[in-house]
Amino acid sequence: MGADGTFERMWSELEPVGRHPRSGGYRRFAWADADLECRTWFVANAAERDLDVEADGNGNLWAWWGDPEAGNALVTGSHLDSVPDGGAFDGPLGVVSAFAALDVLRARGFTPSRPVAIVAFSDEEGARFGVACGGSRLMTGELDADRGRALTDAEGVTMAEAMAAAGHDPAGVGTDPERLSRLGQFVELHVEQGRVPLTTPDGARVWGLDGYGAPIGLASMIWPHGRWRFDFAGRADHAGTTALGDRDDPMIRYADAVLAARAAAERHTAVATFGKVSVHPNGVNAIPSLVQAWLDARGSDEERVRATVADVSGHTGSRTSPQPAVEESWTPAVRFDDALRDVVATALKPRFGAVPVLPTGAGHDAGILAAAGVPAAMLFVRNPTGVSHSPAESADRADCLSGVEALADVLEALG
Ligand code: GLV
Ligand code: MN
Ligand code: MN
Repeated sequence: MGADGTFERMWSELEPVGRHPRSGGYRRFAWADADLECRTWFVANAAERDLDVEADGNGNLWAWWGDPEAGNALVTGSHLDSVPDGGAFDGPLGVVSAFAALDVLRARGFTPSRPVAIVAFSDEEGARFGVACGGSRLMTGELDADRGRALTDAEGVTMAEAMAAAGHDPAGVGTDPERLSRLGQFVELHVEQGRVPLTTPDGARVWGLDGYGAPIGLASMIWPHGRWRFDFAGRADHAGTTALGDRDDPMIRYADAVLAARAAAERHTAVATFGKVSVHPNGVNAIPSLVQAWLDARGSDEERVRATVADVSGHTGSRTSPQPAVEESWTPAVRFDDALRDVVATALKPRFGAVPVLPTGAGHDAGILAAAGVPAAMLFVRNPTGVSHSPAESADRADCLSGVEALADVLEALG
């Protein structure tokens, strides 16, 4: 079977897993049923290829072509979990393409001179426990083991409890320097997200890979980003009997903060999003006692992001008192390894010419590994609309197959 055949088969196996029948989006949350089905799929695909599979202490899955102990491993892959109602491509495209690229390499008769591994990192989106890239952060020590184990989901289930219920011993969670030291380079293929401004060789200003007319791009950097929790406290009361002047309504303060975030992001040329909110007690005929809301803020440099969050925290609009925020995660800017990117660009040249190099506002496990000293690179596959974290996320099949060829070319050059 050619690369297109193996890609199609794997894609159709994964397609129904965790897909919500009404929204059409994916709900593959760490250690829940759909995630476990994806893990089973990973293990089966590794076994079919005679790769040795292991789950590390943090639940990341590794499929080895060659000796894991030998060191200087060339690693590719991505993640299989999703945001609530996520698209089909964010994460799985990198894992499916990794297996398909390995098939291409074998069909070419290529034998790597060092171990090659395919990885599916655990809990990349942080949709369930709130911290993104949980699997890679725990491995590098960027997320403390005790803090990770104690993170809770919306039902109060801890990460440790969720792992244990899924048959994974949480005692193994934590920094894994030995494994980290065995990784030589990491190459993550990912669907393009958003459409950044690019300049074509003839000087035209265009948007994203589609505007550029390129199926494949290369990452230059990941914007710094973080998540902050705001607790707006108020006084619960009756929605019908409490005069407007008598109310202490935290929903009003939350609404003000949403508008303040938008204005601050515009002022500082950043982006800021309140995408998750929890209202207590959440009754239609009751003024809430508490509104908890999470702000995701990102920008091309740390100052912009910090200034945006500070403006929201310190917002003193007519109905909003200054509101300290709890920083739940922070990821500094990551600049990918220039030397590795040059090698990757050279490997891509015969098939794709000079590919555009672009920054991204999305976080990735490749960024966590890069920050921990593992040279990393990212390939982006064109997403014509740029829409992501949505059921509308898309990539043409021909571009996905170009991604497989691109990844195979890169692994062959590096392997
Ligand atoms: C992960 O996809 C993120 O950027 O939030
Ligand atoms: Mn994502
Ligand atoms: Mn992703």
